[in-house]
Amino acid sequence: MAKMWAGRTAGNTDKIADDFNSSIRFDCAMAKQDITGSMAHAHMLGAQGIIGADEAAQLVDGLQGILDDLQSGALEIDLSCEDIHMFVEQVLTERLGDVGKKLHTARSRNDQVALDLRMYLRDEIAEIRALVKALLAALCAQAEAHKAAIMPGYTHLQRAQPVSFGHHMMAYAMMLLRDLGRLSDCARRMNVSPIGCCALAGTTYDTDRVGEAKALGFDDIARNSLDGVSDRDFCAELLGALSILMMHLSRFSEELILWSSWEFKFIELSDSYTTGSSIMPQKKNPDMAELVRGKTGRVYGDLMGTLTMLKGLPLAYNKDMQEDKESIFDACDTVKMCLRVCAPMVETMAVNEDKLLRAAQEGFINATDLADYLVKKGLPFRSAYKISGTLVAKCIADHTVLEALPLEVYKEFSPLFDADVYAAIDLRTCVEKRVSLGGPTAASVEAQIAYVRSEMA
Ligand code: ARG
Repeated sequence: MAKMWAGRTAGNTDKIADDFNSSIRFDCAMAKQDITGSMAHAHMLGAQGIIGADEAAQLVDGLQGILDDLQSGALEIDLSCEDIHMFVEQVLTERLGDVGKKLHTARSRNDQVALDLRMYLRDEIAEIRALVKALLAALCAQAEAHKAAIMPGYTHLQRAQPVSFGHHMMAYAMMLLRDLGRLSDCARRMNVSPIGCCALAGTTYDTDRVGEAKALGFDDIARNSLDGVSDRDFCAELLGALSILMMHLSRFSEELILWSSWEFKFIELSDSYTTGSSIMPQKKNPDMAELVRGKTGRVYGDLMGTLTMLKGLPLAYNKDMQEDKESIFDACDTVKMCLRVCAPMVETMAVNEDKLLRAAQEGFINATDLADYLVKKGLPFRSAYKISGTLVAKCIADHTVLEALPLEVYKEFSPLFDADVYAAIDLRTCVEKRVSLGGPTAASVEAQIAYVRSEMA
């Protein structure tokens, strides 16, 4: 078919070049935004007297008809077109004749594609934020149910100090809350309209950029036409936010994988979110969590690809920028898929409180509390630390635990020890006495849940 831009050249590009050049396979995802944007543009052209009011009305109707037909399936996207913008304009012209050819007055595909992508992505962000909230709700519910379940907290993956399962869940909730914040910051900065920047240098027509932007729900307009058509910061920024979100999901997945191993058995994932092995009949594999961890690399790749694509581009539009869409679409789709599986996986996981407690009892995680006990009786911390460490070494040698050492033994190490030492190193005391703000107590977990729920709303 003859190219819309035939003129300077005959437009009969090689078939291989056509396929290479075309983006309709992926930018067809923005059909709705493209048509909505064009309707606002036609309306503006009519209101400003750049085209006749009746012509504007015909364009708006024609565009609405195309949208309806695409949605009903009466019209199929012609994949031989260069991109979605050309497709819509071509169908419009076929249907309306010469009036259709007026739509592209006072705009360019350069500002049009930037507009469509911003509109598309702001909807994607809204959807992703809702999915993050669903995962947050699942985390809060698990935290609530197990707010007092003692488990070992780790550093270096070595048992360190007692925390609660609720506390551990809420640590991830805090990460996701920051992700929500990053996504809304990004949506706010993204919601600036490039339409009317035209190819790069604005236009001689008396357009109304502000009115057109308002009609499309934008908060502002791009203030420099060169920047308006060449800015893809909103893609890089969203990819950055999505990469951080995936990093959080990946760290969480790693813990779920570890915890559901036979070695830990802290949790059991529901059968709905695990798989079996084709050869080993006993297996229950955490495939979903592993895939979330694995797909994180893909989203990082999308970010890296976009940053690299942009780094050498002179102003203003360059065709390289067509590469923005596959990366950002892939990242959004991947994140949505991961969130959709994570929320119910967390919601349905069973938590083995006995196992958590047993692990907490086995790792001398009350050794700091033992040292603190001596400090409260007047010993300097470093000396108390030494005595506590020596007692741990003795316990290890004797195959026992601090709770089981007789008081006479304690007294051999320091005259400051008394019968109240046992209460001081009881794991429940160790958690519930950690009353500093943000700590692991059940009351603190409840406060954290309340905070997250109110911030989410
Ligand atoms: N398909 C193009 C893209 O996605 C649309 C903009 C084309 N502009 C141009 N001057 N060739 O970037």
